[in-house]
Amino acid sequence: MTSFPEHFVWGAATAAYQIEGAVTADGRGPSIWDTFSHTPGRVLDGDTGDVACDHYHRYRDDVALVAELGLGAYRFSVAWPRVVPGGSGPTNEAGLDFYDRLVDELRSRDIVPMATLYHWDLPQPLEDRGGWTVRDTAERFAEYAVKVYERLGDRVQTWSTLNEPWCSAYLGYGSGIHAPGRRDPAAAFAALHHLLLGHGLAVRALRAAGARSVGLVVNPAVVRPADPASPADADAVRLVDGLHNRVILDPVLGRGYPEDMVAHMSRFGDLDWFDPADEKIIATPIDLLGLNYYAPTYVAARPGASGSPNYPGSEGIEFPAPTGPVTDMGWQIDPTGLAELLRRIGGDQPDLPLWITENGAAFPDRLVDGRVRDTDRIRYLDGHLRAVQAVLAEGVDVRGYLAWSLLDNFEWAEGYRRRFGLVYVDYPTQRRTPKDSAHWYRSVVAAHALPEEPAQPR
Ligand code: FCB
Repeated sequence: MTSFPEHFVWGAATAAYQIEGAVTADGRGPSIWDTFSHTPGRVLDGDTGDVACDHYHRYRDDVALVAELGLGAYRFSVAWPRVVPGGSGPTNEAGLDFYDRLVDELRSRDIVPMATLYHWDLPQPLEDRGGWTVRDTAERFAEYAVKVYERLGDRVQTWSTLNEPWCSAYLGYGSGIHAPGRRDPAAAFAALHHLLLGHGLAVRALRAAGARSVGLVVNPAVVRPADPASPADADAVRLVDGLHNRVILDPVLGRGYPEDMVAHMSRFGDLDWFDPADEKIIATPIDLLGLNYYAPTYVAARPGASGSPNYPGSEGIEFPAPTGPVTDMGWQIDPTGLAELLRRIGGDQPDLPLWITENGAAFPDRLVDGRVRDTDRIRYLDGHLRAVQAVLAEGVDVRGYLAWSLLDNFEWAEGYRRRFGLVYVDYPTQRRTPKDSAHWYRSVVAAHALPEEPAQPR
């Protein structure tokens, strides 16, 4: 058995819109994801989060599942439209009551609650006033963050501001494959800036209110050249790395926006949203950085290629389809990417505690005779945990691992077809069944170690 460090924390993660359902209960207002999912053609199979896993009503059972897995931490997100349905203005106490109950339930079972304040469910009234493309949204976000802190801060120690600003900005406002579904590169960059500003303002406001442990959750890309010997591919890597990683991590970690990215963003219009004083706010020190990792990204320089709208201004770059094993999302399975990411960020920021706030895989699971034999997922988790062990041994400060996800859930534009859970959800009955991977994860957590032999391919 190869053990993990004594204080290494095991957990699982979820997000509000993906599991809660109950979208009109107790005064919750509409979010951009309600609007988007109810717009025909936006989400696979026309799925919406209206009911999802009905976690809003079944949270006790779900916390019991976390406890059965033996987990020490649970990462959830707070739905802004439950707490401030108008996006600004009156607080909806009934919405906060839900998170109050959830946090108490977790703590009664010795599970540390880790709260994310924004996992993509912007109140629709704010989108109607410009959404993340306007500064006002960043300011309203910091106000909302404090409201949540004031209610839960006596029991929740660890806070994250945003989940994956890259997705909110580029998928939401650039390619439009996520809510609010806008397709405008200039809007994507303005949104990114205001997301980062909202993060910085919220860190400051939370600190002032008394919070001691505040961070950000990002999904850095591990960008690799299709041809390691090609200088043109190396340039493509530099641009995509800039658009995905440096344009976020540099300002957040105090280095300011990279010059090449400022020039790149300027191609799409004046950066009239930029105020030099913002960089200081965005760089407000954080206490932890959460990393979500799923798969590496490959790029190749191809004159004439249309690029990807997920990376505004990436014309001339091709994103080749993965070779080798992929998940049900079509994402390449490659744990070396996780090790590479942790080495890079850990090497760069040796004093910043890192968490793996999401890692996992979708597979076409089937419930047969009361059992889900998800060997592929076990192998995925096993491989990625071995990568974590390797970098821990090199001295990278990784504090914990949170599997995505506790439950099968609403996988955004992919709807319910993509199953990421350790626990299978039969949506018509809402019955939960821990998959084989849940039993495997429980035994790893109990042993605080991986088995000597890696999980074998089927
Ligand atoms: C991440 C999201 C999370 C989930 C996984 C699969 O980008 O943060 O909500 O959808 O991908």
